[in-house]
Amino acid sequence: MTGVETLVDCRGLTRLFGKGEAEVAAVRDVNGQVRHGQRIAVTGESGSGKSTLLHLMAGLDTPTSGTVTWPGLTMRAGRPLGIGVVFQAPSLLPALDVTDNVALPLLLADVPRSEARLRAEQALDRLGLTGLASSTPEELSGGQAQRVAIARVLAAEPALVIADEPTGQLDRRTATHVLDVLLATVGSLGAALVVSTHDPEVADRLDVRWAMADGRRREPAPQVGAR
Ligand SMILES: Nc1ncnc2c1ncn2[C@@H]1O[C@H](COP(=O)(O)OP(=O)(O)O)[C@@H](O)[C@H]1O
Ligand SMILES: [Mg+2]
Repeated sequence: MTGVETLVDCRGLTRLFGKGEAEVAAVRDVNGQVRHGQRIAVTGESGSGKSTLLHLMAGLDTPTSGTVTWPGLTMRAGRPLGIGVVFQAPSLLPALDVTDNVALPLLLADVPRSEARLRAEQALDRLGLTGLASSTPEELSGGQAQRVAIARVLAAEPALVIADEPTGQLDRRTATHVLDVLLATVGSLGAALVVSTHDPEVADRLDVRWAMADGRRREPAPQVGAR
């Protein structure tokens, strides 16, 4: 399918690192589409290529061969707009308070400061983080920092959220809560979601699974008893 329904279209997507004997195919010949509103879990062991694939899908890295295109997103200077990224490690800037951290992508997109702060406050409010608005990142727990990172994505109202092991460093209870927040956030935005995880409990809560092994996307396992 082409047109606005397809947000990301990966074709023969390949990303090599290193040269000669040291060459590693982090991602090899991956095909797949992310459709509007779809929720995808990218699963696989450490080193299977999840982060590399997510960075390519976000337009943060360039493939060695193959293509990634964003038919349903607006492009500016060759880059897709409307993708929010939640990184594995909390990625808040220590010199800014929580509200300014959440407002930062808006400020970088030339939204006036008063409007950016307001939208940041609203996003924090929706995630139940109002009490942390003037905290600094170092005052936050790991789970709180990840929720602020999600608020930062929410404030920018993306059409696609890409989250790289957002719960990888959290305990089970906090991880469940952060995933609840992420799913509610994309639900309220009507956004699509791509989450990498090695946690089956996380993967089971999403609609579609892309299973990675050695940089390749494995075909879905044949159904037991299917003829
Ligand atoms: N910048 C890089 N330079 C060299 N090798 C890399 C780089 N990024 C990833 N790799 C290699 O590519 C493979 C896939 O890595 P990655 O995408 O981080 O996997 P995952 O996120 O599933 O753990 C690994 O073998 C890793 O060492
Ligand atoms: Mg990774």
